[in-house]
Amino acid sequence: MSPDSSTASKGLEGVVAAESKMSFIDGAKGILEYVGIPIAALAENSTFEETVCLLWDGKLPTRERLDSFVAGVRSQYALPRELIDIITSFPKSAEPMHVLRTGVSALALWDKSPDEIEPAQVRLKGKNLMARMPAILTTFDRYRQGKEIVPPDPSLSFAANLMYMLNGEKPTPTMEKALDVCLILHTDHGLNASTFAARVIASTLSDVYSAITGAIGALRGPLHGGANEGVMHMLNEIGSIENVEPYVKKKLEAKDKVMGFGHRVYKTRDPRAMFLKGFSRKLAEQTGNSKLYEMSRKIEDLMDKEVGSRGIYPNVDFYSATTYHCIGLRLDLFTPMFAISRIGGWLGHVIEQQHGNRLIRPKADYIGPHDQPYVPIGER
Ligand code: CMC
Repeated sequence: MSPDSSTASKGLEGVVAAESKMSFIDGAKGILEYVGIPIAALAENSTFEETVCLLWDGKLPTRERLDSFVAGVRSQYALPRELIDIITSFPKSAEPMHVLRTGVSALALWDKSPDEIEPAQVRLKGKNLMARMPAILTTFDRYRQGKEIVPPDPSLSFAANLMYMLNGEKPTPTMEKALDVCLILHTDHGLNASTFAARVIASTLSDVYSAITGAIGALRGPLHGGANEGVMHMLNEIGSIENVEPYVKKKLEAKDKVMGFGHRVYKTRDPRAMFLKGFSRKLAEQTGNSKLYEMSRKIEDLMDKEVGSRGIYPNVDFYSATTYHCIGLRLDLFTPMFAISRIGGWLGHVIEQQHGNRLIRPKADYIGPHDQPYVPIGER
């Protein structure tokens, strides 16, 4: 679209609003690469920490770079004592995404120079934020259940420490790998709504905390990151394999959305969903959740038959719901887990935006009236 065009693109569909060296997505062929590396190769062989280095540095890290990044993250797992006190004064009924958003925003208050936007400072703040987001969530989750807060264990990987702080027990290697794979698969995805929100905020030369806080707010909506919780609610509501068909048919007849299906970019199968499908099957078998997986398969088959020809296929949220459930996450922690994963992408995009920044400021088509009289209040 030319800069002078007055035709609005609803939902900005098809508009190219930035350049990025991080994710390549081919929505027609179902390809997703981070810095040119297919997503499945990273999910199989990499770790979340290494993948974040890849996104931020534009290349796979050397051993030395990775060790230093990992040590830097582990040294920052803990929250300031005062922030723990604040989190443990929140209403226990609070929604974890509101808590995560508030905690990230609050961390700016313990940063002596929150407004620094020099690249090295942004990376440092991003690394510290990434390290501390799990503690915001786990502190609140344990507090609301009346359990003792578990301090972080810097000997553990990012994924293992997160599960340790949540459950008070170190995860098995299978569970650690399962969470790590989810973190990798969710960490970046082009100019999705929350990433765009982060870039818009960064483009005003505002601070990193504001950019990530805004991104969390955008992610929690049910059309974006909130869909994984929607999928789990749907599976709970369906309850049995026999109920799948009437449920899906009723939804489609009513023109309701079936959560975990459809995507603005993918008009074929989302490669992340394809990876998670196989992964969640194995995990479901190992954890006695095969029924959940079978229900998901049946929903997918039915949707294929009914709307597959319109390019509506499972997206990343569909099988990530089963995966998170098998890991033992409570339902309202699904979307916060997506947010914690996405810090890699958000921060990388903030760095890209700040490099050669120009304020993001599109325009709106004014469609209201003109030349109206001002009517005094008593005469309206
Ligand atoms: N179930 C049934 N019909 C659907 C679905 C669905 N999940 N998704 C799209 N459609 C239909 C929709 O009803 C519309 O039909 P019609 O042309 O007859 O009005 C058509 O497909 C186009 O849908 P749209 O909502 O205009 O497409 P969009 O590109 O604006 O939206 C979407 C993409 C992801 C918001 C949408 O597919 C959706 O709401 N899906 C359910 C929520 C979901 O799973 N979101 C997670 C997205 S992936 C993770 C992420 O990136 O955050």
